[in-house]
Amino acid sequence: MITVLTYKKLLLSIYILLCLIIICKISSANKLRKRDLTSCLVDVQGKKVYPNDPEYNSDLIDENTRVMFTPSVIIYANIVADVQFSVYCASTLNMSISVRSGGHSYEKYGTIGAIVVDITNLNQITINSTAKTAVVGAGSRLGSIFYALSQAGFLAPFGTCPSVGIGGHALGGGYGLFGRKYGPASDNILSMDLVDPTGRLITVTADKYTDLFFALRGAGANNYGIVTSFTFQIYPTPPKVTSISLKYNLTKIQTLFDTTQQLGPTLPDDVSFSIVIDIGSVEFQGVYLGSQSSATQVMSQFVSLSQPTSNQFTEESLFDSVVRWGFQQSNGTIYPYHSPSNFKAKSFYVKPPGLSAQGVQSLVTFMTGLPTTCPTYAVFDLYAGGAATRIAANATAFVHRDVFHSIELFTTLTGDNTTNAQCITQLNSFGETFQSNYTDYSCYQNYIDRDLTDWQNRYYGSNLPALIAAKKIYDPNNVFGYVQGIPLA
Ligand SMILES: Cc1cc2nc3c(=O)[nH]c(=O)nc-3n(C[C@H](O)[C@H](O)[C@H](O)COP(=O)(O)OP(=O)(O)OC[C@H]3O[C@@H](n4cnc5c(N)ncnc54)[C@H](O)[C@@H]3O)c2cc1C
Ligand SMILES: *[C@@H]1O[C@H](CO)[C@@H](O)[C@H](O)[C@H]1NC(C)=O
Ligand SMILES: *[C@@H]1O[C@H](CO)[C@@H](O)[C@H](O)[C@H]1NC(C)=O
Ligand SMILES: *[C@@H]1O[C@H](CO)[C@@H](O)[C@H](O)[C@H]1NC(C)=O
Ligand SMILES: *[C@@H]1O[C@H](CO)[C@@H](O)[C@H](O)[C@H]1NC(C)=O
Ligand SMILES: *[C@@H]1O[C@H](CO)[C@@H](O)[C@H](O)[C@H]1NC(C)=O
Ligand SMILES: *[C@@H]1O[C@H](CO)[C@@H](O)[C@H](O)[C@H]1NC(C)=O
Ligand SMILES: *[C@@H]1O[C@H](CO)[C@@H](O)[C@H](O)[C@H]1NC(C)=O
Repeated sequence: MITVLTYKKLLLSIYILLCLIIICKISSANKLRKRDLTSCLVDVQGKKVYPNDPEYNSDLIDENTRVMFTPSVIIYANIVADVQFSVYCASTLNMSISVRSGGHSYEKYGTIGAIVVDITNLNQITINSTAKTAVVGAGSRLGSIFYALSQAGFLAPFGTCPSVGIGGHALGGGYGLFGRKYGPASDNILSMDLVDPTGRLITVTADKYTDLFFALRGAGANNYGIVTSFTFQIYPTPPKVTSISLKYNLTKIQTLFDTTQQLGPTLPDDVSFSIVIDIGSVEFQGVYLGSQSSATQVMSQFVSLSQPTSNQFTEESLFDSVVRWGFQQSNGTIYPYHSPSNFKAKSFYVKPPGLSAQGVQSLVTFMTGLPTTCPTYAVFDLYAGGAATRIAANATAFVHRDVFHSIELFTTLTGDNTTNAQCITQLNSFGETFQSNYTDYSCYQNYIDRDLTDWQNRYYGSNLPALIAAKKIYDPNNVFGYVQGIPLA
């Protein structure tokens, strides 16, 4: 009896001792890692923020409050070498790494790594008017870039929201203002400086690292390295542009969609526009690259067929049109700031000839049926007839070419956690049926969505094999891996 008990006690003691040793080992490994991390990062010039630092929580707040990650460090790169040291440390310490440019990822993926490199300070913009090129630091915001370019008499095509970062934006496409004329931002990239997974800085062009040049223009978000600067093709700005706002009663939405299907593809490239469906209202929001008289003429048939309740053609400077459609003040466009909110978005593409009438109705019915605590708007960007559609699907990683509309469904979650969770569930389930009944299979990678099934094929389509091949060559150890990153196989 006694011996058995003693034996059991002995076993128990040994067991506890083993556990302690293991726990001890794990926690000392963690401590070691922490020490390794701080000492590895010693040569970084920029600010480093660790979890115990007072600014840690607020520094993690960017555009989206629905998701929160807890990285081991946030590094504010002051110079390119800071990015190189950070990548080198991630790679040698086998820690995950992510880069944050403008912090507008719909799933907050800029902060998903154990090491977060914030490149806000890499925001220099240098314009060469002769060459019609601009070298843009990858941490620059769209509003600041539009401003700098317009001051020099130039423009390039980017999205409307001024606080979006060019880093994530251009590496995933980037569509909006002047998109019908010049396509997605990614089509206008001439070269990129990239810190590769070993920490080496390389310049990626059509001639050098051709396969990487292909991959970065559409699938560049945290997949192959960190882009520190872009060289963009830029275009002379007309002296005046014309902002166009046409408003419709929601009951007349089908007339607007019919008109868009009939005339949208035939409108000149100088017209770029979105149709925005909001609670109880529908608006055509566009810019024409030319004078008011010419805009009115170009749009006359569209206006007479679609019968807006009001129409406004405003001749203004290019930058004023950027300010208008960014819905910010001028200062807030030049110096953009975050407007954090809790939101969830879905993306759809429709092929020519556009969304069917039942599809439009199904969308409106869904939107108007959501709880008022989950206000939802839909944005339809017209690709049809524009520059985006004139490039081959396999020319860059941005595969979405044979497209009529890109549709974004954007829901702000203002209720309590339970209603918000219900709204997300409704949104996801609507997304599935809407897609299977009315839209194409593909989705826009810049409206990244963790709840999307088979996202690899939806985001990259027929380009996926080439992207995987490039991943194997340029990031074989998956230093830049994350849950929706390009896989190795
Ligand atoms: C309010 C709002 C409005 C928007 N409007 C538009 C629009 O009009 N048109 C449009 O096309 N899109 C629009 N978007 C989507 C936007 O283009 C994407 O969310 C884009 O990825 C944001 O880039 P970011 O640098 O701001 O975000 P981040 O969160 O910093 O980055 C997004 C992703 O890119 C990676 N990444 C960032 N920088 C680099 C880099 N330098 N090198 C490698 N990887 C990098 C990040 O790791 C992350 O995975 C909008 C988004 C929001 C929130
Ligand atoms: C690196 O980390 C991953 C998971 O975090 C692990 O699976 C892998 O074995 C590690 N590699 C090395 C070389 O330690
Ligand atoms: C601008 O571009 C032109 C033409 O390509 C080139 O000759 C010139 O050196 C560039 N200027 C600067 C400052 O780089
Ligand atoms: C829209 O049209 C409906 C039906 O014709 C009408 O009742 C409603 O007042 C209109 N709304 C606006 C904002 O004009
Ligand atoms: C403009 O924005 C900057 C940066 O946010 C701020 O420092 C400045 O006070 C603002 N100026 C005006 C006139 O609002
Ligand atoms: C791209 O697709 C076209 C057909 O659409 C094909 O002829 C061409 O060979 C493809 N190019 C590459 C590099 O795969
Ligand atoms: C709601 O969710 C947030 C974020 O997940 C959490 O911090 C908060 O405690 C939750 N509130 C309630 C009442 O559950
Ligand atoms: C949409 O598709 C679902 C299945 O995916 C089907 O059950 C439903 O009836 C369809 N709805 C319409 C309006 O076609």
